[in-house]
Amino acid sequence: MAEMLIVALDFPTEQSALHFIEPLSPQDCILKVGLQLYVAAGPSFVKTIVDKGFKVFLDLKFHDIPNTVAGACKSAADLGVWMTNVHASGGPLMLEAAVNALKTYDKPPILIGVTVLTSMNSLQLEATGVDRSANSQVRHLALLSSKSGLDGVVCSAMEAEMLRKEQGADFVLVTPGIRPEGADAEDQQRIMTPIQAKRAGSSFLVIGRPVTGAADPLSVIRSINQSLS
Ligand code: C5P
Repeated sequence: MAEMLIVALDFPTEQSALHFIEPLSPQDCILKVGLQLYVAAGPSFVKTIVDKGFKVFLDLKFHDIPNTVAGACKSAADLGVWMTNVHASGGPLMLEAAVNALKTYDKPPILIGVTVLTSMNSLQLEATGVDRSANSQVRHLALLSSKSGLDGVVCSAMEAEMLRKEQGADFVLVTPGIRPEGADAEDQQRIMTPIQAKRAGSSFLVIGRPVTGAADPLSVIRSINQSLS
């Protein structure tokens, strides 16, 4: 199931990311470019890996006024990325502006909403003025994302089963915090193995360090894909 695995390219430079990609082919995995690499390597790097034939998830979590987010979504679509995202907490007007901005594209990127970052717990949320539990805030923002016309959300695999039931089979669930059997959890708090996350209803699994830090990343990727098929 190579089409489920998204590898997070959390590298500090274009050179280190290109070195990592060298042995990979677009059949092995989807590639995620996040803030660190994007700030270092920019849109030309994204274009380079799109041109190599990889599906690219541009994970920049846009959150700004509706007009600015709409423009950023168009810029992402112009790069030819396969998926991009916005913070669902940006509100209905911002989410609808993002959805509308992509309507003019023949093959627009999949647009997903970030619900509650996995680094936030209920205490952290309360400090920002949200006085419900993290779980209930995730449900609330998933519903808002779906009502606003987004294709799905990023959430933890622990929430996937609940959201799959509530939002139906077509809602895209992208889940980080995935660790192959026996891998170090590092700073992820609530982890699942790839097959557990798939069974819980995840559409796409985001995995970073267990792959990027491996001596032989391609064999780790292949064994994850095998475990999913
Ligand atoms: O190395 P690891 O597998 O923990 O990487 C997970 C990736 O998923 C990182 O790029 C991280 O930024 C991203 N992510 C996350 N939790 C979220 C959203 C994104 O870990 N809620």
